[in-house]
Amino acid sequence: MSQIDLFTPVRVGAFELPNRIAMAPMTRSRAGEGNAPTPLMAEYYAQRASAGLIISEATQVNDTAQGYPSTPGVHTNTQAAGWRRVTEAVHAKGGRIFVQLWHVGRISHPIFQPNGAPPVAPSAIAAAGELYTGEGMKPFPVPRALETAEIPGLVRDFAEAAKRAVYDAGFDGVEIHGANGYLIDQFLRDGTNKRTDAYGGSIENRARFLLEIVEATVAAIGADRVGVRLSPNGTFNDMRDSDPVALFTHVAKALSTFNLAYLHVIEGIDGPMTLPAGAPAVASQLRAAFKGTFIINGGYYTRAAADAVLAKGEADLVSIGIPFIANPDLPARLKLGAPLAEGDKASFYGGTEKGYTDYPALETVDA
Ligand SMILES: Cc1cc2nc3c(=O)[nH]c(=O)nc-3n(C[C@H](O)[C@H](O)[C@H](O)COP(=O)(O)O)c2cc1C
Repeated sequence: MSQIDLFTPVRVGAFELPNRIAMAPMTRSRAGEGNAPTPLMAEYYAQRASAGLIISEATQVNDTAQGYPSTPGVHTNTQAAGWRRVTEAVHAKGGRIFVQLWHVGRISHPIFQPNGAPPVAPSAIAAAGELYTGEGMKPFPVPRALETAEIPGLVRDFAEAAKRAVYDAGFDGVEIHGANGYLIDQFLRDGTNKRTDAYGGSIENRARFLLEIVEATVAAIGADRVGVRLSPNGTFNDMRDSDPVALFTHVAKALSTFNLAYLHVIEGIDGPMTLPAGAPAVASQLRAAFKGTFIINGGYYTRAAADAVLAKGEADLVSIGIPFIANPDLPARLKLGAPLAEGDKASFYGGTEKGYTDYPALETVDA
């Protein structure tokens, strides 16, 4: 056991953080015209600037990357200008913010695609279930399998988005979204990747897409500004793999060679990303395989639980999602042992300032 706790400062990539609390990325579906961030989003993130690191909601890297209404992008000048207001507001409050870069792959619908085309994926396998489109619930469509020749363009889109995010929008870095059943995860796992080219089949081949994206992004903005998120046990978005321990251990080892800012792993015992019954716990093996800063996530809602995982050396930081929704000053509340407010689930996705920027910080509660 070490003396390290949530409030021990830590270096992450290029940055010194005052605490070990990362705000987990959370889609809130409140982007404006052209999927550009709004002034309301700047207020929301600035209210949460006491997190050691904010990781933004998932953000599109190109115009085929969207799968939900009103999620922001970072591939146009207007979007970058909107994000600049966000990053400036967070920096003015002394915070740091990375953007989470995503492409949803098959978790989309022609409604969100240019010219109403089918979404793209490693293989033409539809996810089971339905998605929310803004025009009601619709079954997931069968995606179009990407041609091998299209893959370098997608890799480039991630690197270009990273450049725009850092140099135009003012982000401190990027997190590559390799989790939760979106495009990169669809390449990684053999339930969704049936390709027969260099991007499918063996674990090495399935990891290639992620590793090429990481390499290109590191070349674009520097390794100390790049993190990666994985969800080795997640079943969200109809995901499965025949051997997650072997797959994700390989990925963690390969990521070690880049000297990244961090690896961020979802493996909760509580909350919406609950470990499926009987799933092997992979996080401890990834911690051992990855040489670098390790962020753990999932159901760490008390200071005691978060301090314990840090003291045992199982992670260097803890990321916390849902409690940040209704507690903008979550670090102060955890430090004081103050009670946490409960967020209204009806306003998690979409809407106005209600259930978004109207949760008070403690000072206001006390006044
Ligand atoms: C409203 C909401 C939106 C989310 N959006 C994202 C997202 O954009 N990207 C992502 O990687 N995870 C997303 N997640 C998952 C969270 O980052 C986190 O992994 C999950 O909530 C478990 O952590 P927690 O128990 O601390 O909330 C979302 C979760 C919620 C509740």
